[in-house]
Amino acid sequence: MKPAVRVAITGAAGNIGYAAAFRVAAGNMLGSDQPIILQLIEIPPALDALKGVEMELRDCAFPLLHDVICTADINQGFGDVDYVLSIGSRPRSKGMERADLLSENGKIFGPQGKAINDNASKNVKVLVVGNPANTNALIACNNAPDLDPSQFTSMMRLDHNRAISQLATKTNSAVTEIKQIAVWGNHSLSQFPDISHCIINGKDATSLVNEAWYKNEFMPKVQKRGGEIINARGASSAASAASAAIDHMRDWALGSNDWVSMGIISKGDYGIAEGLMYSFPIICNNGNCEVVQGLTQNEFCIEMMKKTENELLEERDTIKNLL
Ligand code: NAD
Ligand code: LMR
Repeated sequence: MKPAVRVAITGAAGNIGYAAAFRVAAGNMLGSDQPIILQLIEIPPALDALKGVEMELRDCAFPLLHDVICTADINQGFGDVDYVLSIGSRPRSKGMERADLLSENGKIFGPQGKAINDNASKNVKVLVVGNPANTNALIACNNAPDLDPSQFTSMMRLDHNRAISQLATKTNSAVTEIKQIAVWGNHSLSQFPDISHCIINGKDATSLVNEAWYKNEFMPKVQKRGGEIINARGASSAASAASAAIDHMRDWALGSNDWVSMGIISKGDYGIAEGLMYSFPIICNNGNCEVVQGLTQNEFCIEMMKKTENELLEERDTIKNLL
């Protein structure tokens, strides 16, 4: 049997953390042969609830779950961890945009970045889910000087999965027939869901849907889906967000068969400002994330990619004291 790996989940008593912990422990993230030690992190007022999560995890008798550690001490919680799902933070409520969370949530991620830097495995892989996810991930990354920036990512997989689902419904296809979707930029209204290179069952997606549907229905639907769910549920997406986090980490660790969308630190690909946490189409291989290269882009794509880049530049400017 493989040695156990350590997975930290922050905000593990919250809605997404609660949904994610059981799937990680069941082997959905790292495979059915990978034993896991869960290191669950919460703030002190949520430690009683976290104890309940631990009891339920143990009651599942998951064969892969070797231990559960619960703590409010981030240095202990990130100790020797191989994977981090950084979820713990406030969600938005009706009428807010995700960037409105920056002043409250942003300050969580500097200390977390430092604690990961000082305590985690040197090969740790970090996924930031807490909103606004890209800029929070940027803050964490900038506070971890001993780690490589490529070890920090932000979650765009929910947007990516939403785009696949909408397109599958529209074209009456299976989700597995949809390949090469990309969601560029920020996890916000400015994100750019791009089907210009998408293939559905061997055919160009752009030949199967018309441009008016793409621009006036599909794009806004994907961009505004988080708000639509908040309006319907009275709470932000949770199970689908946890599922996207599992997909993101699984593909990063074990490899992706197709393009995936991930926020990564830009190295200047496609002219995007270096150092921004920006989502690109990515292929994961052997634990590495490579930006899909050489894509041709028309004027509309370039304009959309620039718009979401500009928003991320503004967000970065707002929190420059935290970097
Ligand atoms: P929630 O309120 O149900 O749970 C958040 C949990 O985090 C709570 O248990 C809280 O005690 C804990 N927490 C708060 N500050 C913490 C800290 N400093 N350290 C550790 N834990 C802390 O919220 P939720 O629905 O689970 O959402 C969590 C975050 O994920 C929100 O910011 C939300 O907007 C975001 N989100 C992101 C995406 C995405 O696609 N990137 C999708 C959905 C939600
Ligand atoms: C989502 O996209 O569902 C999350 O980011 C939650 C939100 O605030 O929309």
